[in-house]
Amino acid sequence: MAVFADVVKRAGYGQLMPPLLEDLGVFTRIGDATDVVTKEMYDFFDKGDRHVALRPEVTASVCRSFAQHRPTTPWKVFYSGPNFRYEKPQRGRYRQFDQVGIEVLGVDDPLLDVEVIALAWEFYERLGLKQVRLIINSLGEPDDRTRYVEALRAHFEEAGDDLSEQSRSTLSRNPLRVLDSKREPDQRFIESAPQIADFHSSEAAEHFEAVTGGLRALDIPFAVEPKLVRGLDYYRRTIFEFQGETLNSAQNALGGGGRYDGLVEALGGPSTPGVGFALGVDRTLLACDDEGVFATQSIELDVFVVDVTGGLHAAVVTGELRAAGLAADRGYDNRSMKAQMKLANRSGARYALIIGDDEVAAGTVVVKPLRTDDEQITISRPDLIAHFSHDTTTGTDSP
Ligand code: HAM
Repeated sequence: MAVFADVVKRAGYGQLMPPLLEDLGVFTRIGDATDVVTKEMYDFFDKGDRHVALRPEVTASVCRSFAQHRPTTPWKVFYSGPNFRYEKPQRGRYRQFDQVGIEVLGVDDPLLDVEVIALAWEFYERLGLKQVRLIINSLGEPDDRTRYVEALRAHFEEAGDDLSEQSRSTLSRNPLRVLDSKREPDQRFIESAPQIADFHSSEAAEHFEAVTGGLRALDIPFAVEPKLVRGLDYYRRTIFEFQGETLNSAQNALGGGGRYDGLVEALGGPSTPGVGFALGVDRTLLACDDEGVFATQSIELDVFVVDVTGGLHAAVVTGELRAAGLAADRGYDNRSMKAQMKLANRSGARYALIIGDDEVAAGTVVVKPLRTDDEQITISRPDLIAHFSHDTTTGTDSP
């Protein structure tokens, strides 16, 4: 989260904290033909008989918030937190999972789509992930999409009973999602299915060209995947997904997003273009494990306080060090010097700060470097904070 916030804050995004619980109607706008709405929602009636749901994603809440508060545009926000979908749990697919994401409302410019994709790419790069693949597509304008869906329906209906039973059921609800089927009998019909690009209006084609051109200009590798459709219904024009190449193909979507220009309107706001993405934190961590990189740096401790006089001095000193902006931890339970020094060494701290009866009597503390062979030194207690403040500002390893 710290890496993500750093990447997006530098691009002008402010944090939004939408609620976990919303009126069910906010989420049904995601699309009544989607699994997320029809099968996976945790919805219930509250004590006031309101039909509410735990959020399955955040985009709809961001648009609801925009429609309600009408902030000035462009409105660039980021978020992080849990979401809930009643799915069959397995590795990389959970009923509660975390996302980080961004949304921008009020800008139609295809180069904003490029910025949004580039920020996700930068995030993966900053984590050190190398095996991430970006795929993109355009669903065209709403009319293009409607014509395409009808052509797909006709195509798959021709297959009749040769299509898998699950896909026949999906077809009646949402022909686009049949393209997602991984089932063997469906593959030859998916191969021969009509392509969305043949249905693009000239505006949609131009918009998509500007997006691909922008990605090339930024040297972001991508593949156009004509069968990419995404699982939510609100998308128009650009859609994209990041796949973790080390993950199992059924759960390899690390994150995804796209344009959803009609969603604010559907939630009672003015006609407003929107674009964004959400990245799955749980899957990103799995990919980090697979690639042997760490999503978050281990805590960098400056000081570990070893107090063998009962612990009260450690409580005061760690408080002072933390207030001065240093990362400080301590030993508890009044353990022996040896046990606390072992903890100090294991903590990765740069210094152990040792307080025994002699130090208390003399009004001093001992500072022992843990990562260099430098000698330990004794400093007077009142000089402690100034001593370490100097050390962190100069960034040197010797006090
Ligand atoms: P989504 O594709 O449904 O899009 O979810 C985004 C990411 O959340 C997925 O790529 C995946 O990494 C993670 N995810 C989804 N479901 C689960 C699950 N059950 N367990 C673990 N991880 C999961 C959205 O949610 C859109 N709101 C993205 C967006 C933002 N589009 C525009 N703006």
